[in-house]
Amino acid sequence: MKRVFSGVQPTGNIHIGNYLGALMQFVELQQDNDCIYCIVDLHSITLPQDPKILKDNILDVAALYLAVGLDPKKSVIFVQSMVPGHAELAWILMCNSYTGELSRMTQFKQKSKDSESAPTGLFTYPILMAADILLYDTDVVPVGNDQKQHIEITRDLAERVNNKYGKTFVVPDGRFLKEGARIMSLDDPTSKMSKSAENIHSRISLLDDANKIKKSIMRSTTDSEGSIRFDSINKPGVSNLLNIYSAFSGMGVAEIEKKYEGCGYGDFKKDLVEVTVGAIMPIQQRYHEIRKSQELIDILKDGAERANATSEKTLARVKKKFGLGL
Ligand code: TYM
Repeated sequence: MKRVFSGVQPTGNIHIGNYLGALMQFVELQQDNDCIYCIVDLHSITLPQDPKILKDNILDVAALYLAVGLDPKKSVIFVQSMVPGHAELAWILMCNSYTGELSRMTQFKQKSKDSESAPTGLFTYPILMAADILLYDTDVVPVGNDQKQHIEITRDLAERVNNKYGKTFVVPDGRFLKEGARIMSLDDPTSKMSKSAENIHSRISLLDDANKIKKSIMRSTTDSEGSIRFDSINKPGVSNLLNIYSAFSGMGVAEIEKKYEGCGYGDFKKDLVEVTVGAIMPIQQRYHEIRKSQELIDILKDGAERANATSEKTLARVKKKFGLGL
């Protein structure tokens, strides 16, 4: 059994990119692995958050975890800030990381926009993520491929500490799916689908109603060629829609291309609406039942206790290696 760890930020608008790139893998992996899934609220405050909305968003992600099929009997589900070991290990790792390597992180460059007043937490964000992963002796990290650089720095840090202090950390591997590893924005298929994009039709959120989903898909950007074939360089819009269709239907891209040979974009999009709505509506139904239940809170409290117990063991080992404490 391998140890699996991953997390999602509670920043609202959990979308089909998060689902197809990450959450679907979480569910698949819990069958034969020892899985820990976190709601990374400490990461979310690297940018300003309204406290009341943040609290709601934490419970939304937790309810979505369960609604997509995570089973608290098989997986540990918890909120990051309820386990102090994350912040503690992050500090230790910060003392072993370099400002140069953090300055090269594309996500920092994008989010800080080169501003001198960008929060320090935004700069050290990848270190906290490394701490999340290394704290649980993680073997496998299922994520979308926008997280590749963060996984790389986690591996570098683990190896660096192991070389300096002797074997301390497990060096984890990222797990990136082919289909769904990078779902692109519906209005600009050259950038990734994101929770924070201004245009709500650039994404399909897991909590969108059927009408909104239809609107977003029908107005998605394609091209003037009129043929349904995969070519991510010349036809990024159609290729993205094919990826989404494939991930939700389980059909291969070649099979879908064949099915729609000679058809126009309108027909293809109409069917994609049906496939997408068909996949999302059952998740929403479960979400609404779980979201208001006391059980959700109990699951998160129990998850935090279990995560704490594991993390304390790792921290004790790390502190010993570093000569910290008595
Ligand atoms: P976050 O909250 O931005 O996204 C959660 C997961 O969704 C994936 N994802 C996508 N996959 C495909 N297409 C997209 N357009 C798309 N957008 C997002 C992300 O890759 C991610 O897997 N830094 C992480 C959270 C994190 C974490 C961790 C993850 C903190 N600590 C430890 C793994 C392990 C993030 O911001 O994810």
